[in-house]
Amino acid sequence: MSADSQIKDDYTKVASVEDIPRGRGIAVNANGIEIAIFNVKGEFYALSNRCPHQNAPLYKAGEEKINAEHTWTKSRGGVNEEELSVSCPWHLWELDIESGEHEVSGKCIGTFDAEAVDGDVYVRI
Ligand code: FES
Repeated sequence: MSADSQIKDDYTKVASVEDIPRGRGIAVNANGIEIAIFNVKGEFYALSNRCPHQNAPLYKAGEEKINAEHTWTKSRGGVNEEELSVSCPWHLWELDIESGEHEVSGKCIGTFDAEAVDGDVYVRI
C-alpha cells in the first residue's frame, strides 16, 4: 500500500487544496472537533481553531473581507511563513503553528497531522 493511500485510509478528508489560499486558514469540523487548517507555502498545518487566550477563532487571522464601505479590509493577525507561526486576530498572541505553543504564557492548543494528497487535504484525528 502506498503512503498516499495509507493517508486516505487513516486520515479524515477536510478540504480541497484550492479551498485554502497560501498564507491563509479555514475552519473545518472533523469528527466534531473544530480545527483551523493553514496553508504555509503549500504545506498544511492543522491545530485547534480556538486561541488558548480567550478562544478567538484562529482561522480568521489575516482574513480579508468587504466592510460596510465596500472596501477590502484585513483582519488583525496572520500567518508568518518564515517563523512558522500564526498570530491571533484578537490580541495577537503568536502561536507556533507546528506545536500550538504560545511561548510567553506557556499555554498550548492541540495540533494534528495534516497532509495533501491528490488535491485534497487530510487530517489525522
Ligand atoms: S483570544 Fe487570542 S490572543 Fe486573545
